[in-house]
Amino acid sequence: MIRIRNLSKQFNMKDGPFQALEDVSLHVEREDIFGIIGMSGAGKSTLIRCINLLEQPTYGEILIDGKCVFRELKPEDAAQYAEPNSVRLNAAELLQLRREIGMIFQSHNLLMQRTVEENIAFPLEIAGVAKPKIRDRVNELLAMVNISEKAGSYPSQLSGGQRQRVSIARAMANTPKILLCDEPTSALDSLTTNQILDLLWDINQQFKVTIVMITHEIELVKKICRKVAVIDNTKIVDQGEVGQVLLNPSMEITRQLLRGRKEVGA
Ligand SMILES: Nc1ncnc2c1ncn2[C@@H]1O[C@H](COP(=O)(O)OP(=O)(O)OP(=O)(O)O)[C@@H](O)[C@H]1O
Ligand SMILES: [Mg+2]
Repeated sequence: MIRIRNLSKQFNMKDGPFQALEDVSLHVEREDIFGIIGMSGAGKSTLIRCINLLEQPTYGEILIDGKCVFRELKPEDAAQYAEPNSVRLNAAELLQLRREIGMIFQSHNLLMQRTVEENIAFPLEIAGVAKPKIRDRVNELLAMVNISEKAGSYPSQLSGGQRQRVSIARAMANTPKILLCDEPTSALDSLTTNQILDLLWDINQQFKVTIVMITHEIELVKKICRKVAVIDNTKIVDQGEVGQVLLNPSMEITRQLLRGRKEVGA
């Protein structure tokens, strides 16, 4: 469903280029729940933002559901390939891609002047869905995340967990194929975290949505992910089945992430 090849990202800073991702390759299969774990500053958010092209990668290739949405080959690699060296989506294709990929952020990102139901309706309005259809879909989504009783409330009147449930409903509004989650539970207590993870699990099972979840908490990966990639200082250093990568860690960074959990739990 998501195939990333040799992706790199440089930010152009005043004092020269800053490398945030280097030669990242990933394969996320259809309907998978895929975890990306790493320390703060490793490049996790940059990577997930490259998947829906909120951030433009510098080099590499991204295929979503078999379609190339970004390609920029390094000049030295270009000669080996028969394909075009450079692929970009036009504005209409980019809009379509964003409909196919929902995203949930660490800080909920809800519109504070809109009620819960108006927040959930927002992506449907942008997509030009007819009003009666919007109403029906919003009701469905409110029920899906179990927050119908707060339909008329404003985000400021909700708990952190409730806000994240609204974010999930909003991200699912256009029935995306992929849901990207950037540390969706890092501001929540453990009980609420488990409720959100259960909800994401149910969404994956029921709607067959492929989920990519970024986290620095190894426990979350163990709870719901089938596969995991470990990112350390701009590079993917390990990836595979959760059992294989985490239970028998071959990389020092993975052992450090595991030790971090033990220290927190001690
Ligand atoms: N827009 C930007 N301009 C310049 N540098 C950036 C930008 N966004 C991120 N970076 C840098 O890229 C590196 C990776 O940042 P990123 O946000 O991807 O890390 P992260 O793994 O998500 O960290 P955290 O767990 O703290 O969220 C950091 O050094 C950061 O300062
Ligand atoms: Mg981040």
